[in-house]
Amino acid sequence: MNRIAVVPGSFDPVTLGHLDVIERAARLFDEVHVLVVHNPDKSALLPIAQRVALLERSIEDAGIAGNIVVASWSVGLLVDYCTDVGAHVLIKGIRSQIDVAYETPMAIVNRNLAAVETIFLLPNPANAHVSSSLVRQVSALGGDVSPYVPTAVYEYLQET
Ligand code: PNS
Repeated sequence: MNRIAVVPGSFDPVTLGHLDVIERAARLFDEVHVLVVHNPDKSALLPIAQRVALLERSIEDAGIAGNIVVASWSVGLLVDYCTDVGAHVLIKGIRSQIDVAYETPMAIVNRNLAAVETIFLLPNPANAHVSSSLVRQVSALGGDVSPYVPTAVYEYLQET
């Protein structure tokens, strides 16, 4: 049986915390789909296609591309994508109790909708304070985000 997991998120932009969780997921599953999903609750920095491109390059640079597919999803439920690709598992990174509180209702709804289970993975504690929103803010104000993002993202933010 091909065990497939989906790692969804805004990835606006991908951080070292995201890459940490993606790498752990890729060790646990045969195939991992990293899915860029539009989150209407957040104001976006990067267009979806750019987020996909930066994820692809970061995953390649990290040497973990073997069983990882990067895709995007903007129409319909996240679980519809899971059903389309035959995935029964979503993976979410959990940094704190705040993440648990935010993720738990979505995990239960996704299970009720399509029997898709959510597995929570703990990142390296060194990445527990890293978030895309912090990266967006520090970058917009001219600060150094190199400790928090892959090189591809750092270079992209320097150029724009
Ligand atoms: O990186 P983010 O912004 O925390 O990711 C949140 C995301 C995109 C994974 C979340 O908003 C989501 O799951 N959206 C899919 C919409 C959906 O299917 N909703 C119904 C069930 S929860």
